[in-house]
Amino acid sequence: MILSPSVLSADFANLQNDIEMLNNSKCDWLHIDIMDGVFVPNISFGIPVLKSIKKHSNKILDVHLMIVEPEKWISEFRDAGADILTVHYECSPHLHRTIDAIKKSGMKAGVAINPHTPVSVLEEILSEVDLILVMSVNPGFGGQTFIENTYNKVLSLSKLIDSKNTKTRPIIQVDGGVNLDNASKLISSGANALVAGNSIFNTKNPIDVISEFKSI
Ligand code: DX5
Ligand code: ZN
Repeated sequence: MILSPSVLSADFANLQNDIEMLNNSKCDWLHIDIMDGVFVPNISFGIPVLKSIKKHSNKILDVHLMIVEPEKWISEFRDAGADILTVHYECSPHLHRTIDAIKKSGMKAGVAINPHTPVSVLEEILSEVDLILVMSVNPGFGGQTFIENTYNKVLSLSKLIDSKNTKTRPIIQVDGGVNLDNASKLISSGANALVAGNSIFNTKNPIDVISEFKSI
């Protein structure tokens, strides 16, 4: 299971400290949430902050774009240090072209779906993407309550992928309200990458929590 702590829950006044803590932890990736105040009702941070994170991090940077017209920013995010770039299905009318451009720029390409979006809309793009991000809260904020229907969605997505027999199997990532209580059921439903913000950073010892996640 790939664990991607969400930097949205880190201490922004002391970001280097948190990035170094994550470097010394067993996590696999860092999840970086970019919000534009248009697609989602919140503004997080942008490219200069991503560049600063890149300077200090030794982990893979997993960038989740919650922005309209994500196709306009692909090379900027690549240059800022993104390794994986995930765009929302709901923001991408020409998703195939956008995914192709992300891969051509040298990054892994992901597509995210909101809680109300059925997995079936991804049927014709499954074989093109490296990762599918299933939102388990409505995007915009950390610390929200996990939506229980996510287990069914992950299961259906996993079956859909099986039925398509793709050359490489896309990673199934779940993001929002993930914690040590729901992680194992998510994994048994078919998830193989988990994002966790609050359940890691709002604890006394994030390093230990990360180890607990990794030992599930
Ligand atoms: C929500 C973001 C998530 C968020 C997860 O819009 O996409 O990545 O940071 O935080 P928690 O784990 O606290 O729900
Ligand atoms: Zn996210």
